[in-house]
Amino acid sequence: NRGCKLVGCGAAVPSLQISNDDLAKIVDTNDEWISSRTGIRNRRVLTGKDSLNALAVEAAKKALEMAQVGPNEVDLILLCTSTPEDLFGSAPQIQRALGCKNNPLAYDITAACSGFVLGLVSAACYIRGGGFKNVLVIGADALSRYVDWTDRGTCILFGDAAGAVLVQACDGEEDGLFSFDLHSDGEGQRHLNASIKRNETDHALGSNGSVLGFPSSGNSSYSCIQMNGKEVFRFACRVVPQSIEIALDKAGLSGSSIDWLLLHQANQRIIDAVATRLDFPSERVISNLSNYGNTSAASIPLALDEAVRSGKVQPGHTIAAAGFGAGLTWGSAIIRW
Ligand code: ACO
Repeated sequence: NRGCKLVGCGAAVPSLQISNDDLAKIVDTNDEWISSRTGIRNRRVLTGKDSLNALAVEAAKKALEMAQVGPNEVDLILLCTSTPEDLFGSAPQIQRALGCKNNPLAYDITAACSGFVLGLVSAACYIRGGGFKNVLVIGADALSRYVDWTDRGTCILFGDAAGAVLVQACDGEEDGLFSFDLHSDGEGQRHLNASIKRNETDHALGSNGSVLGFPSSGNSSYSCIQMNGKEVFRFACRVVPQSIEIALDKAGLSGSSIDWLLLHQANQRIIDAVATRLDFPSERVISNLSNYGNTSAASIPLALDEAVRSGKVQPGHTIAAAGFGAGLTWGSAIIRW
């Protein structure tokens, strides 16, 4: 009877900080509007020279150090990101930079702000059913690269970061993932996306199907983030409490037996609404989005790392974690630190 437990965490953020007042210099907004509607005051952003992979590696190294596990003991790396530095996936580059000499499997998981929860559950499945021992789950995103910096409705929300946890095989009795609940709904993609730009003149076909025009090289790109904020807000407030209730039910636990509520850090009003629905007192809700904004797949491990290192989350504490975002995707996991 094999279980899995979280034995280390780490995080890294870029050094460049952008405050609400800084944003007010480039779009028609102000600190009062942003902080009252979102809870966000600052965010960290990669500059053109910076590398998201480097942040992911820094976070992963810290998680390995806390777990006292060497890079050669890692047998799987799951990089949860929607903004890889290589379209084909960045995880193998992380593996190389960490110096994992035994060639562990490393691949990317794309599920936007739900990515980390999906990565965590995937790690548990690999460990329980696949004989894996040490799985690094990294959430890393640089949504600032896909933000329209002239759109005040979206550019105020996002920041860049990386966070990581090491999930390790253990005896079943020590298992640290009690239950999970995962979903997606492609119908809602129209409310939140950054889609490939299509050029219909490329691949122009003649009436007999022959190719008249070939695509020009290297002109593929994605649109900036398109979001209907109100719809995403409503979606999150509806599905996240439901999902956590399903996961709690599967684990045979009630909300009152959970030490911490740790949601994807998108908007303080969403966090508060979910906590209220679930009857979670604010003292048991983890939030650090005022400093970092919405960091997509990195937000949960970034907030977890801060809460663990500050001594808030103690060994043995239970956490209801939930991610939600583009796809649309959402899911929750009841875990023990
Ligand atoms: N500063 C000042 N005014 C603004 C700003 C701004 N930054 N942005 C919008 N406004 C204005 C609008 O133009 C509008 O003005 P109008 O009434 O004259 O038309 C007014 O403020 C209200 O705008 P709304 O969009 O209705 O504001 P809302 O209260 O819905 O807040 C927000 C917008 C903060 C984006 C909110 O809807 C939200 O947080 N939604 C959820 C977003 C989210 O969680 N996304 C997750 C993405 S995660 C992922 O997977 C990538």
